[in-house]
Amino acid sequence: MRVVRLRAAGGPEQLAVEEADKPRPGPTEALVRVHAAAITRGELEWPVDRLPATPSYELSGVIEEVGTGVAGVADGDEVFALTPFDRDGVAADYTAVRAELLAPRPRALGHAESAAIPLPALSAWQGLFDHGRLGADERVLIHGAAGNVGGFAVQLARAAGAHVIGTASAANLGSVRELGAHEAIDAATRFEDAVEPVDVVFDTAGGDRLRRSLAVLRAGGRLVSVAAEPPDGGVYFTVEPNRDQLRSLARLVDGGDLRPPPVEVFPLTSAPEAFARSLEPRRRSKVVLAVAA
Ligand SMILES: NC(=O)c1ccc[n+]([C@@H]2O[C@H](COP(=O)([O-])OP(=O)(O)OC[C@H]3O[C@@H](n4cnc5c(N)ncnc54)[C@H](OP(=O)(O)O)[C@@H]3O)[C@@H](O)[C@H]2O)c1
Repeated sequence: MRVVRLRAAGGPEQLAVEEADKPRPGPTEALVRVHAAAITRGELEWPVDRLPATPSYELSGVIEEVGTGVAGVADGDEVFALTPFDRDGVAADYTAVRAELLAPRPRALGHAESAAIPLPALSAWQGLFDHGRLGADERVLIHGAAGNVGGFAVQLARAAGAHVIGTASAANLGSVRELGAHEAIDAATRFEDAVEPVDVVFDTAGGDRLRRSLAVLRAGGRLVSVAAEPPDGGVYFTVEPNRDQLRSLARLVDGGDLRPPPVEVFPLTSAPEAFARSLEPRRRSKVVLAVAA
C-alpha cells in the first residue's frame, strides 16, 4: 500500500509517498480503508521525536477488518475519526486505528468533507462545552470566528441556544453572520467597547485579542483558548479524540445544523503540494488528501 512519510524534520519538502505492508489490526483495532485524510496547518512540526512519521490525524473511510476484541463497529462501516497525535497518522491507503475512536461518518457528506470535521469541530466542542461549560441562554464571544475552529464554534454555540458574538477580519464578517453569529465585530476595532459582558470567551486567534479578553468576561465567566496560553485564570487545552462527540457532530451535520468549511482536495500522491498549500497564509479552506479512488 502507499503511505506518506515525513522522513526528517522540516516542511513539505521532507515528505515522500512510499510503499509499505498493509497493517494488521491488533485485538482492539480496526483496519480502515482510508478514503480521505485531512491536513492541519503546521502539523509537520509535531512528530519531531518519532521520525520518520506518517502525517494527517483525521480520516474518513470504510472498515475492512476488525480485531478479535472489537465490538460496536464492523466490516463495511463508514467511519470518521480524529487519531492521537503521538503516533503515526492516517495518510495511507490503510490504517489500523483503535476501534473506540471510530464514529459513523455524516451520511449527508462525502469522504473529503467528512475528514475535514474531526479536529476543528472537536476543538470547538471541547472548548465551548467541556472547558467553557457554555449553557443555553449564555453569551459567548468567539475570536477568529471565520476560521476552521471558530466557524464550527459559531455554529455549535448557536445550535446550543447561546447568544453568539464573533470577531474576524473585516472581509470575513459576512461569513461569520452567515454561520449564525448574532453579532460580528471587526477584529481591528476595540471589541471591548462594542460587547456587553459575556459568560465565555472562546479564542482561536491568540495574540492581542486573547490578551484583551478578560475585560469582557462577566464575574464567573470562563476564558478558553486553543491558540495560545491565556492570561491569569484562563484555560488552554489540546483537543482529544472523542467518539461520542463525533457522533453528536455527525447528527448535527445530517440534521442540517452544522456544515464543514470548504475543502481543497489533492490526490495522495501530491501530498507535498497539499501540505505546502495548507501552510499558505490566510487560506480559509481545509486541505484534504483523497486516498481511495
Ligand atoms: N490546541 C489545540 O488542540 C488546537 C486545535 C485546533 C487548532 N488549534 C490552533 O487554533 C488556531 C485556529 O485554528 P484554525 O484551524 O481555526 O485556523 P484557521 O482556520 O487558520 O483560523 C484562524 C483564524 O484566526 C485569525 N487569525 C489571526 N491572526 C492570524 C494569522 N496571523 N494568520 C492566520 N489567521 C489569523 C483568522 O481570522 P481573521 O483574520 O478573520 O481574524 C483565521 O480565520 C491555530 O492557532 C491552531 O494551531 C489548536
